[in-house]
Amino acid sequence: MKVSNKMNLPLDGLNLESLMETLFYREEFLSIASHELKTPLTSIKLQTQVFRRNSKKEKNTSYSKEKVDRLVDQIDIQSTRLIKIIDDMLDISRIRTGQLVMTKTKFNLSEVVEELLPAQISSKIESNIFINGDRERIIQAMSVILNNAARYGRGLPIKVRLVQRKTKIIFSVQDQGYGISPEDQKRIFQRFQRAVPASEVSGIGLGLFIANEIVESHNGKIIVKSEIGQGSTFKVNFKREESL
Ligand SMILES: Nc1ncnc2c1ncn2[C@@H]1O[C@H](COP(=O)(O)OP(=O)(O)O)[C@@H](O)[C@H]1O
Ligand SMILES: [Mg+2]
Repeated sequence: MKVSNKMNLPLDGLNLESLMETLFYREEFLSIASHELKTPLTSIKLQTQVFRRNSKKEKNTSYSKEKVDRLVDQIDIQSTRLIKIIDDMLDISRIRTGQLVMTKTKFNLSEVVEELLPAQISSKIESNIFINGDRERIIQAMSVILNNAARYGRGLPIKVRLVQRKTKIIFSVQDQGYGISPEDQKRIFQRFQRAVPASEVSGIGLGLFIANEIVESHNGKIIVKSEIGQGSTFKVNFKREESL
């Protein structure tokens, strides 16, 4: 019997257990994703209600400029959050259908990393490291790792490095956060997989999956070293091309 695999489920060998597991994680993902989408929307709705209530008042006690700025900033932050989640979901479906296309050009990775880092992060960036790759996608992959270090790093200092060796380029981000158990290290690169409860740090578990796809499309590799309670180091290794 030929089994249709439109949902891209792991049908090879028809392992019922892994099929059930995939379905379970999809269900869980749906519930987490709905929550993650609803939270920023609720906040936006709340801000607009505040505006409306104010404009309905008979004696229009108009807001101070500061208050308006704050409300608009909130709406802006929450819409950016929504767009980010939806972009990730779109990337997931692009990956599944083989449409995540890389447009490669030669560019200065050192400059890109410098620009990406907030001023307060301690870093060692070797200058003039060039790479042949999709600039925006590489920025996206590195941002996932940097954002994770900030979000799961318990607010402690993060160290970033970009160095070049004979045969490879290494980008690494070290945090002193929660850390990740050996079992979890194996699954966090899969879709929808998270190792922290949503009540602690929100997220939908797509970042590392997408980052890994991007890095692999550049013949690179993401490696994680971590110990619970001690923090984590995520390393991205790219092959160094002779001609660059
Ligand atoms: N630097 C880190 N420290 C501790 N845990 C991490 C770190 N980076 C990722 N993780 C774990 O890996 C999971 C998957 O990460 P990711 O794919 O970016 O999704 P999300 O951040 O949306 O949960 C996270 O939920 C978290 O449990
Ligand atoms: Mg993340």
